[in-house]
Amino acid sequence: MENGIDTVVILTEAISQIASCSSLLELDKTRLNLVGKQGIVTQLLKSIGSLSIEEKKSFGQKVNVLKLQIEAIIEEKKTALETKALSTQLEGEWIDVSLPVRASLPVLGAGSLHPLSQVQAELEQIFRGLGFSVVDGPEAEKEHYNFDALNIPASHPARDMQDTFWTKDKNVLRTHTSPMQVRALERMTPPLRIVAPGRCFRAERCDASHEHTFYQMEGMMVDREISISHLLYFMRTLLREVLGFEPKIRLRPGYFPFVEPGFELDIWFKNRWLELLPCGLVHPRVFELTGHDPKEWQGFAFGLGLSRLVMSRFEIDDVRHLQGCDLRFLRQFS
Ligand code: PHE
Repeated sequence: MENGIDTVVILTEAISQIASCSSLLELDKTRLNLVGKQGIVTQLLKSIGSLSIEEKKSFGQKVNVLKLQIEAIIEEKKTALETKALSTQLEGEWIDVSLPVRASLPVLGAGSLHPLSQVQAELEQIFRGLGFSVVDGPEAEKEHYNFDALNIPASHPARDMQDTFWTKDKNVLRTHTSPMQVRALERMTPPLRIVAPGRCFRAERCDASHEHTFYQMEGMMVDREISISHLLYFMRTLLREVLGFEPKIRLRPGYFPFVEPGFELDIWFKNRWLELLPCGLVHPRVFELTGHDPKEWQGFAFGLGLSRLVMSRFEIDDVRHLQGCDLRFLRQFS
């Protein structure tokens, strides 16, 4: 021991300090305290200057060895801490991809098409195959399209505030998809075939079979010499394709100001008559109102009740489910 300082004591103390470091940050602090610029060992080296030549040699050597030893131990500890940190990180990130999904947890997976969209897509496909174009139009509609050009008189109940949602600027949330007949006749040149699926609105008191928002699919074919047999042929084809069998059908007279004659086409489905397809031949007045000569052009039109068809097909007992956004309901159709 020179100078009253025992380097072995310092080394032992340093070893225990280094060993107790549990993080890289702590280790770095300890390193500064020991061999940093202000560290104990550095201070010792600085103190050498005041020693005698004899002492300088042996003490200087000892302190240098001490410094190297401490640095080596710190380095070793650093490697150990780094390895530990990495394995802790990997431990946290590790996942067992072979584990089954826990059924109790809600799983955010891919969604699926709403039953209405599924049936609508199927119908569009069928009609494209029959040469029809699929067209789309506004849900907030001008009175002209929803009523006037469809020959719907001012006295018609649908014009009533009670039955229809009117906007402040005297537009209507369309009460049916029939305005698309007018839009097609105004914009396209006959012969033409269109279907227009979409959302409709009526100020209904809601219950299991009435909803303020529902879906229809309008269809119209305009050509020369169109008759009821064309209408029936297309309606039968449509029903056979969408139901997968040829249903028994019944035609009853139905009144719609924009068709003449007008029908209610019912199908025998699950042991009862289902009112599904109002239809008829396009009224000559509608041709006139849209600038076409009714002597040259005839047509048929129908307004398929899409919501109703979906309900029958999937045996849904309450129309409100369709707008309800309840995942327990929707998942049944994925
Ligand atoms: N738009 C009518 C309704 O919603 C249905 C219909 C469409 C009738 C086309 C005849 C022709 O009640």
